[in-house]
Amino acid sequence: MKKVLVAYSSRTGKTEAMANYIAEGLRFSTDEVVVKKISAIGNELDLIGYDGYIFGCPTYHKDMTGGMKQFLFKAELANLTGKIGGAFGSHTHSGESAPMIYDTMLHVFKMDMTDLGALKLTEAMVQTDEGLKACQDYGKAVGEQIG
Ligand SMILES: Cc1cc2nc3c(=O)[nH]c(=O)nc-3n(C[C@H](O)[C@H](O)[C@H](O)COP(=O)(O)O)c2cc1C
Repeated sequence: MKKVLVAYSSRTGKTEAMANYIAEGLRFSTDEVVVKKISAIGNELDLIGYDGYIFGCPTYHKDMTGGMKQFLFKAELANLTGKIGGAFGSHTHSGESAPMIYDTMLHVFKMDMTDLGALKLTEAMVQTDEGLKACQDYGKAVGEQIG
């Protein structure tokens, strides 16, 4: 039974929409998909027991949010080495957040990250059919990588 966690932060709902679309793609090949705001995750024990992890955060001031930085310190304690991973986020013009999260998952947590890299979408793109499909395809690809 394959289980994936999609954990995200979102101030105005764009990254949240991406999280839900990615979950739709994951459901093609995954038994259980849990979509959670990072604020609903108490400690590292809440992160244990999944086969894959996809973390998302919007970019504010060319950075990820403070909440996501704290969340990644919790995730470090969960020992996610070798687990399948992905990262995503919405932005308007620069979009640093998703690739920064992806890099942390790859280089610090030593996760088996999707070859697709981080999924960055402009907020204008998120609500389009193309944006929806990009998220669904990303979820589908990560789900297939889990097997
Ligand atoms: C004060 C402020 C600062 C922002 N800084 C950036 C930025 O540095 N780079 C960028 O690409 N987008 C920036 N944005 C745009 C947000 O990333 C964008 O609105 C995003 O879709 C918000 O996602 P959310 O709805 O999940 O919170 C900024 C937005 C605000 C309001």
